Amino acid sequence: MRVLPPARRNETGGPGWKGVTSRRKPEWIMNMILNVDMMLGKDAEAQKLLELCLVRMPNQNLSEAEARSMVEFMRSNDGEK
Ligand code: HEM
Repeated sequence: MRVLPPARRNETGGPGWKGVTSRRKPEWIMNMILNVDMMLGKDAEAQKLLELCLVRMPNQNLSEAEARSMVEFMRSNDGEK
């Protein structure tokens, strides 16, 4: 498999959030939301996703509080709360 197949993507072309809280630590997710360019530059796991998706996640310019709410949302989306 060279790229992530459509069934494992969402409408943005990204990997989608289902199960992300069991794949990643909360700090990793926070960094992806707040410092995506740093992550795509340095983090091996983020770079792997870039290779699979062939599209860069754009910086969403969220505040830390907004990023925390996103992580909370992802947790409830995964049925953790
Ligand atoms: C508030 C909005 C967003 C949040 C919270 C968010 C969060 C995340 C997270 C947590 C990951 C890692 C997923 C994993 O490990 O499976 C990721 C990856 C990714 N996201 Fe987003 N994302 C957002 C918006 C977007 C948008 C608008 C795009 C449109 C292109 C996008 C494209 C991608 C791509 C392509 C990846 C894989 C890494 C890469 O190739 O750059 N994301 N995102």
